[in-house]
Amino acid sequence: MSAPVAQTIDLCKDYRVGPSVVHALADASVTIDSGESVAVMGPSGSGKTTFMNLLGCLDTPTSGRYLFEGTEVSSLGPDQLAIVRNQRIGFVFQSFNLLPRITALDNVALPLAYGRYRRSERRRIAAAALEEVGLAERMNHTPVQLSGGQQQRVAIARALVGDPSIILADEPTGALDTRTGIEIMNLLQQLNARGITIVLVTHEPEIARFARRVIHFRDGHIQSDESQEALGAMSQAPPDAADTADAVRALG
Ligand SMILES: Nc1ncnc2c1ncn2[C@@H]1O[C@H](COP(=O)(O)OP(=O)(O)OP(=O)(O)O)[C@@H](O)[C@H]1O
Ligand SMILES: [Mg+2]
Repeated sequence: MSAPVAQTIDLCKDYRVGPSVVHALADASVTIDSGESVAVMGPSGSGKTTFMNLLGCLDTPTSGRYLFEGTEVSSLGPDQLAIVRNQRIGFVFQSFNLLPRITALDNVALPLAYGRYRRSERRRIAAAALEEVGLAERMNHTPVQLSGGQQQRVAIARALVGDPSIILADEPTGALDTRTGIEIMNLLQQLNARGITIVLVTHEPEIARFARRVIHFRDGHIQSDESQEALGAMSQAPPDAADTADAVRALG
């Protein structure tokens, strides 16, 4: 058995705001195994993004432990931490976070800029990632020349180029209409089926249905952590067109 991709033990994050302290995350203990698909849900302010930022090593906890692929994150130096962030973890955000003036190909190649690859190799890897997300025909478009769903695909391609073991997506469908959101979920499902662990935040039950496990946060605490029958069997078979159609209908 390999180590879990991510394991948090009594993880806490406090924010000090003037004289008061906000307990953004309190005693969160979660083990995420390789190949899982997890939806993180809960009301606004319940600690979802705080949790994701800790999982992504973008922030440090106030107390508690975090092991990424079996390694205590607090023991990593800045260089090792940068390698984890750049190569082991892929990030996807609600607002895509693409650079507006450069092409899709250059956006996707960007995370490779500080690595060991030559320019031609970087472009080859980026092109392959864009092909995987179905955007081979749009490589030379800039973000304004792409739809929202296409921009999110570019962002997912960018998350893939480091060959991550896990993708962390904070409301990846939050800026998209229902149908496009479900297309993005189908894409994440495909990536999960080829072994990439997926953790995503969503407010929409119809989106959470694509994951096999749902963690609910409330006031910084884990309120529930349950497995469910995933729509289209995320992490098993490739997405089923009939399930997608059902989901679209369910949303009206
Ligand atoms: N940098 C910060 N400084 C102070 N308080 C913060 C900071 N970031 C988050 N918080 C507080 O921590 C709590 C959790 O915030 P968080 O962003 O994790 O919520 P969330 O569940 O992602 O909400 P949303 O659904 O609105 O995105 C909130 O009460 C928030 O106000
Ligand atoms: Mg948030």
